[in-house]
Amino acid sequence: MRVNDLDAFRTRCQRRVETALDELLPPTSVQPSRLHEAMRYSVLGGGKRIRPLLTYATGAALDLDPALLDRPACAIELIHAYSLIHDDLPAMDDDDLRRGRPTCHRAFDEATAILAGDALQALAFQSLAEAPGLEATNRVAMLGHLARASGSRGMVGGQALDLAAEGRALDVAMLEHIHIHKTGALIRASVQMGILAHGALDPDHRDRLDHYAKCIGLAFQIQDDVLDVEGETSKIGKTAGRDQALEKATYPALVGLTEAKEMAANLTSDALAAIEVFAERGDPLRWIADALVGRTS
Ligand code: IPE
Ligand code: IPE
Ligand code: MG
Ligand code: MG
Ligand code: MG
Repeated sequence: MRVNDLDAFRTRCQRRVETALDELLPPTSVQPSRLHEAMRYSVLGGGKRIRPLLTYATGAALDLDPALLDRPACAIELIHAYSLIHDDLPAMDDDDLRRGRPTCHRAFDEATAILAGDALQALAFQSLAEAPGLEATNRVAMLGHLARASGSRGMVGGQALDLAAEGRALDVAMLEHIHIHKTGALIRASVQMGILAHGALDPDHRDRLDHYAKCIGLAFQIQDDVLDVEGETSKIGKTAGRDQALEKATYPALVGLTEAKEMAANLTSDALAAIEVFAERGDPLRWIADALVGRTS
């Protein structure tokens, strides 16, 4: 496949994953309707869909049928949506705004938000376990990877360390460790879904894609930290300046804005170098890497 129009690729992928998510999420007419309303509110209410895009872009690099990746892309986005609901809770970052709207616990209530997150996590694994088209061995490998990436040695572990680091001075190695886990693990898993759907990828190509994912995963969270300082609430859809208010461990706080931006740019160059071998098929992955570092939302 030659991908000339990367904006069209993005729109196509967003439509695919949003249609699939809409079908997977229980309708609000089904009990418990308030819980289902909260789940739909949090998943379908905007968001850049970067993780599904990465899954489809990896599929494009490997010439896979995108239909095979609909469920894996949904699974990642469902885990991500659950992580955001819980991240915003009063016990964690205590945020009122997400994707330009009240956070789930503000729009509903805390108990509903906790349960919506729990149910979205379960739905993620269910939707992948029941994914059509994928070979059983590949599906099991994907389930295992997603579980590891989500758990205490992945995203949840990173979130625990992020909270423990509030108000404490860290070194860059520890901060990198936090970011690689709280955000990098799911970004890496997004690319792994494509790799594992292929099932028999050349090890060199697999390692290159994984290196790309590791680099952009860290760059993505560095840019998120930068936007918390420089971004506008109306554009980022969440309250700017929260990290400083909470004394979060962030790259701008530790190394300054200029160096943080430089680090993100260097990581992006590293990511792009890793996927040179994919020639034109790698264009969507290149576009995503470029778009992430300069993003304003
Ligand atoms: C926000 O992720 C949380 C982080 C891990 C930095 P995104 O910036 O991908 O959020 P949405 O999905 O576009 O709202
Ligand atoms: C959140 O990091 C990472 C996860 C949700 C796993 P942040 O706390 O920086 O994300 P935002 O800025 O609230 O989106
Ligand atoms: Mg947080
Ligand atoms: Mg937060
Ligand atoms: Mg942030």
